[in-house]
Amino acid sequence: MQPRKILITSALPYANGPIHIGHMVEYIQTDIWARFQRLRGNECHYVCADDTHGTPIMLRAQQEGITPEQLIARSSEEHQRDFAGFNVAFDNYYTTHSDENRHFAEFIYKAARDNGHIEKRTIRQAYDAQAKMFLPDRFIRGECPRCGAADQYGDNCEACGATYAPTDLKNAVSAISGTKPIEKETDHYFFKLGHFETFLREFLASGAVQKEIANKQMEWFESDQGLSDWDVSRDAPYWGFKIPDTDDKYFYVWLDAPIGYLASFKNLCERTGLDFDSYWKPDSTHEVYHFIGKDIAYFHTLFWPALLHGAGFRTPTAVLCHGFLTVNGAKMSKSRGTFIQAESYLKHLNPEWLRYYFASKLSNGVDDIDLNLEDFTARVNSDLVGKVVNIASRCAGFINKRFANQLAARLPDAALYQIFIDASERIAELYESRRYNQAMREIMALADKANQYVDEQKPWVLAKDPERLHEVQAVCTQGINMFRAIVSYLKPVLPSLAADTETFLKAGELTWDSVAKPLLTQEVNTFQALMTRIDPAMIAAMLEDNKQAMAAPAATPVASGALAADPISPTIEYDDFAKIDLRIAKIIKAEHVKGADKLVQLTLDLGGETRNVFAGIKSAYDPADLEGRLTVMVANLAPRKMRFGVSEGMVLAAGPGGKDLFILTPDEGAEPGMRVK
Ligand code: 2FM
Ligand code: ZN
Repeated sequence: MQPRKILITSALPYANGPIHIGHMVEYIQTDIWARFQRLRGNECHYVCADDTHGTPIMLRAQQEGITPEQLIARSSEEHQRDFAGFNVAFDNYYTTHSDENRHFAEFIYKAARDNGHIEKRTIRQAYDAQAKMFLPDRFIRGECPRCGAADQYGDNCEACGATYAPTDLKNAVSAISGTKPIEKETDHYFFKLGHFETFLREFLASGAVQKEIANKQMEWFESDQGLSDWDVSRDAPYWGFKIPDTDDKYFYVWLDAPIGYLASFKNLCERTGLDFDSYWKPDSTHEVYHFIGKDIAYFHTLFWPALLHGAGFRTPTAVLCHGFLTVNGAKMSKSRGTFIQAESYLKHLNPEWLRYYFASKLSNGVDDIDLNLEDFTARVNSDLVGKVVNIASRCAGFINKRFANQLAARLPDAALYQIFIDASERIAELYESRRYNQAMREIMALADKANQYVDEQKPWVLAKDPERLHEVQAVCTQGINMFRAIVSYLKPVLPSLAADTETFLKAGELTWDSVAKPLLTQEVNTFQALMTRIDPAMIAAMLEDNKQAMAAPAATPVASGALAADPISPTIEYDDFAKIDLRIAKIIKAEHVKGADKLVQLTLDLGGETRNVFAGIKSAYDPADLEGRLTVMVANLAPRKMRFGVSEGMVLAAGPGGKDLFILTPDEGAEPGMRVK
């Protein structure tokens, strides 16, 4: 059979936040599938990118006093570090802020426009007159019109689940400046999704989308307003691509995000000589799969296929949705300490443990999966260490020490090994259909059989009888071959364990097909421990480290530009608060920072010790007015490396931002270095 040609994507993570283990469900699920396809001999390309545009990224960069380009470069580096840490092997990891993406975004938009699928309309939208920008729904906060809960987003209430228009919120304020938004008219561009109704009905019925998701999308067709027009434009200031033939309109981030799949693949094709068109022409027989979370199915199963179809590209073979991750049975939560960042996990725990645990839970449905940390420990220790690796450690020592590393010439129980060969297609089918949980169960059943065999044969007893010593070599060769088959089947999930096993066996790469031919009369290497047990103390240390990482201040030196209506952070104990050492500091020098719009560089006297601090207060103060005045600073904050130098503390500021930002403290009775209580 000809190898299949497959392109796979995972959703593009936003460039304004770290990767957490909730994200990892998807990247691990996709990576397992990509590795499985390659192991089966198919040609498979796995691409991804950072999702880099939009208002949150623009504001985040402003808050940090850096450019969006700097923010997205940093995120990209951190995201790729974390993905590599979990052995996620992309063929290309790109960015939506690329020439390729601009090209395809313009191409797809123009195709839609020129075929009459774009309509320009004047709308009224909330506007922040102080920040001089239109406000996305998420940046308007107020009281829920239904239940009255305070501080809710402009589009839905987290307390009662109501959805509404931002104009329905009571006492609404802009989350950017804290001022009351006004309404203002503006022209926007709408994609006429309804023009694609017939095409989309066929797409959803074609099997390209899981039933439960397809049925949910179908509800839109039947709703009163039918398929709504989709606003694909945003007003300046916006961080993204300008819409062709407009002066100040930008593509909404959700327009160019999925186009990032094309851009990343195009970039890969340019680097490696792959034929882009053969994958994306309308009659392509190659396969394209998007792995996504169920929350973004709407974009991927309606807008995205319609945009592709409208521009003359093929549509995906399938959009594969998964559920969310809960930890210890509940939504991941910052206050419960279960919002676990990838980096914290990787500092303390083996990535393959999580890969295996997720695999043992993942099905092809959209149900949420739970990471119960006790069950995680028990499952990994019992399955991977107690069952799988145990087979090799029980057999390898004899081969190394008693038989000069030589495997025997034949298997003593060929019928038993045949069971391992016969499992191949069943396990392959389970991987192919993303029923990894069932695949893991099948593989563990094989591991049970292998252990049972070793238990029964008792090589350690045989080894004591010189007459039967040769049987030990045969039994251990059988054991090692069963172990080899199991690791081959687990290779998509546990690539590091597989690589270490390949080193031990000295027989090249394990492939799916190599299981059919056992390894005989072969010299192996000295066996090294392949995996350690999880010690619950490691998990405790990881959670503690994660708590610290979550508590680390945002990279902004002061609260300037912070979201005025930001929700209150989780409660802290008095002891946590008492760790903050607040001191009076005298501003002995205040200077502009070249190239920074918001920062002032302060030299602070703490009563004998001087500190260099960058503060985002330029909107409110002329540096010349600050010299000689007193302020309050956090004196025991760890130094932070910023673009312009190291900041050694933080100055406290109050106020909504802009001109109204206050950092000075009365001079009377205060001395530099004095503790503030
Ligand atoms: O929901 C998200 O995190 C988006 N950044 C996913 C984008 S996927 C694709 F469309 F780019
Ligand atoms: Zn409510």
